[in-house]
Amino acid sequence: MGYIELNNVSFTYLLAKRPAMENVSLSIEKGKFYAILGANGSGKTTLCNIIRGFIPNFYEGEMTGEVMLEGKPLKDYSMEDLAPKMGYVFQNPFNQITGARDNVFEEIAYGLENFGVPVDEIQRRVERVMEMTNTAYLAEKNPFELSGGQQQRVALASILVLEPDILVIDEPTSQLDPKETERVFDIIRKMKETGKTIILVEHKIELVAEYADHVIVLENGKVIDFGEKHEVLSKLELQDHGIVLPQSVVLADKMRKQGMEIEPKLVTRDELKQELQRKYGR
Ligand SMILES: Nc1ncnc2c1ncn2[C@@H]1O[C@H](COP(=O)(O)OP(=O)(O)O)[C@@H](O)[C@H]1O
Ligand SMILES: [Mg+2]
Repeated sequence: MGYIELNNVSFTYLLAKRPAMENVSLSIEKGKFYAILGANGSGKTTLCNIIRGFIPNFYEGEMTGEVMLEGKPLKDYSMEDLAPKMGYVFQNPFNQITGARDNVFEEIAYGLENFGVPVDEIQRRVERVMEMTNTAYLAEKNPFELSGGQQQRVALASILVLEPDILVIDEPTSQLDPKETERVFDIIRKMKETGKTIILVEHKIELVAEYADHVIVLENGKVIDFGEKHEVLSKLELQDHGIVLPQSVVLADKMRKQGMEIEPKLVTRDELKQELQRKYGR
């Protein structure tokens, strides 16, 4: 039994012609890092919303199948019970901003206030998370007056500060530069090290290859592949489904075609580099 389980879940948004999620079954282990891949419109955000329970709670439509969390149907949890357990960083950071507070510090502190955390602890936790997400210099700013990338970091901070067991994060780096993107992945890695379960939608495949444990591939609302990252990301045929594979996978394939003997299932730069050094001394 998985930590989170989806059993044959389908969902059709109200008035939509076809399901956005179709017969999806997944088992998610506690403490692992899952990356969700798929083209635009393939259902990545829908899947996140289903795992978080926002579907069917806040979206109209027809849902069948069942989601379980720790052996109990997700629908039997109240939203109040789920909130401290499962954090959700929206794809559009603008939607994350509460509008209830007029500076970034208070915005990040907002959730903790709602959970009744003592003031000095709030101060400590917000400061630490601002440091982590490089948002300390924005503390006095109005959250609505930030750039997209800054909003994205504040949105992430406002969830991290709650220290939920499960983090569902939808494209958190889409508006970030490479340096800030690396920082986000580093934060996620640290979260994983503290035992948190991570579910991340992310297009930057090299970083997925490096950091994720498992990969879920969606196409037209269906899971077309799911498994350990080396198994999934080394499948060249995924390219026929519009999935961009890591450079080392593509490169290793070319080298094999030229007669080089290269171990299968190398998905990161370092893995390919080490293999080339080992076999060919370069
Ligand atoms: N609120 C909504 N109402 C109706 N249809 C939606 C809604 N959100 C998404 N969809 C549709 O569901 C499908 C999956 O969308 P989404 O989960 O946002 O995909 P992704 O995140 O992979 O881009 C798309 O066809 C999209 O148009
Ligand atoms: Mg999306």
